[in-house]
Amino acid sequence: MSQTVRGVISRSKGQPVELVDIVIPDPGPGEVVVAIQACGVCHTDLTYREGGINDEYPFLLGHEAAGIVETIGAGVTHVEVGDFVILNWRAVCGECRACKRGRQHLCFDTFNAAQKMTLTDGTELSPALGIGAFADKTLVHEGQCTKVDSAADPAVAGLLGCGVMAGIGAAINTGAVNRDDTVAVIGCGGVGDAAIAGAALVGARRIIAVDVDDRKLHTAREFGATHTINAKDLDATETIQDLTDGFGADVVIDAVGRPETWKQAFYARDLAGTVVLVGVPTPDMKLEMPLVDFFSRGGALKSSWYGDCLPERDFPTLISLYLQGRLPLEKFVSERISLDAVEDAFHKMHAGEVLRSVVVL
Ligand SMILES: NC(=O)c1ccc[n+]([C@@H]2O[C@H](COP(=O)([O-])OP(=O)(O)OC[C@H]3O[C@@H](n4cnc5c(N)ncnc54)[C@H](O)[C@@H]3O)[C@@H](O)[C@H]2O)c1
Ligand SMILES: [Zn+2]
Ligand SMILES: [Zn+2]
Repeated sequence: MSQTVRGVISRSKGQPVELVDIVIPDPGPGEVVVAIQACGVCHTDLTYREGGINDEYPFLLGHEAAGIVETIGAGVTHVEVGDFVILNWRAVCGECRACKRGRQHLCFDTFNAAQKMTLTDGTELSPALGIGAFADKTLVHEGQCTKVDSAADPAVAGLLGCGVMAGIGAAINTGAVNRDDTVAVIGCGGVGDAAIAGAALVGARRIIAVDVDDRKLHTAREFGATHTINAKDLDATETIQDLTDGFGADVVIDAVGRPETWKQAFYARDLAGTVVLVGVPTPDMKLEMPLVDFFSRGGALKSSWYGDCLPERDFPTLISLYLQGRLPLEKFVSERISLDAVEDAFHKMHAGEVLRSVVVL
């Protein structure tokens, strides 16, 4: 027996999203239906709506979510009915060549639900990042559910499901920031501020926040930035060098994802330092630079998908740190909204008014 619930879909490129009835099938083998309690609005949802990911419309948007396992399909052992879970888009397969080499964070074959959720006329939906959680309920693979301490506020916990994990992980997993390191973060939205919080958590010596919006720089300080640079007023690369005794930062994280910000990151790091690209460029963006600069400056140029996280390893730990008051995840929640306000939230995100609007159900 399938069930009909409400969900926020994007029907075609650039058009406002719509709140409609969607049909959730009963969970099949390995699948789980989760009653959504909260789902954050991520820049990637907007990128889906704008056709920047693929053109498999209609999309069921939303992917930074937490909720309660409602029903489980045959053979599900990973979670039980009633578990409080954060949804993830990295349910590792354990079988691909990356997993077999112990590099599960690079898994090439992550699991999603096999069955499709649909519109009431039977049209199949493409769930954003295999999740689709701007909805009362969603259907996912059991491995996409990570059980965490139910004392956590769902609106806060859900954010670990994407952007906040991506940012924290860009700093501590991909960038391997350590105590005594100097760090610069370019772009202080939800992802960049999470990178700042991650760098602060592991004891970075100096954390330099760069943005083009003073409001964002103000918030960045609340997450642990020790210095701020408005790149509209100052040359970001030179100022980062000035603030690091003329050397550049050990790790520079680009949480914008544009050629100009990546170049700033490249030249603002110390010799043999690390650049981490966590912002997502669009397919038309190009980079032209002297090859010798790559050679002579050494170091590591990395990209960070989902903060190189392993949900089963990282989510419970980060929730625990949050509950102990050691990681201020609650500060990412700028506002709580209803399912019919997602389009509005996109506008606020675009205008830089929020870190995260979170749909609560
Ligand atoms: N790699 C991943 O797994 C992953 C996961 C989630 C999101 N992302 C990506 O991370 C990026 C940031 O996401 P977000 O949710 O924080 O977005 P956001 O829109 O909330 O934040 C972007 C910030 O960058 C600032 N900015 C824009 N242009 C700038 C410039 N030239 N110099 C300095 N700052 C500038 C903006 O003022 C804003 O504060 C997006 O590209 C998003 O798609 C990546
Ligand atoms: Zn795998
Ligand atoms: Zn996201």
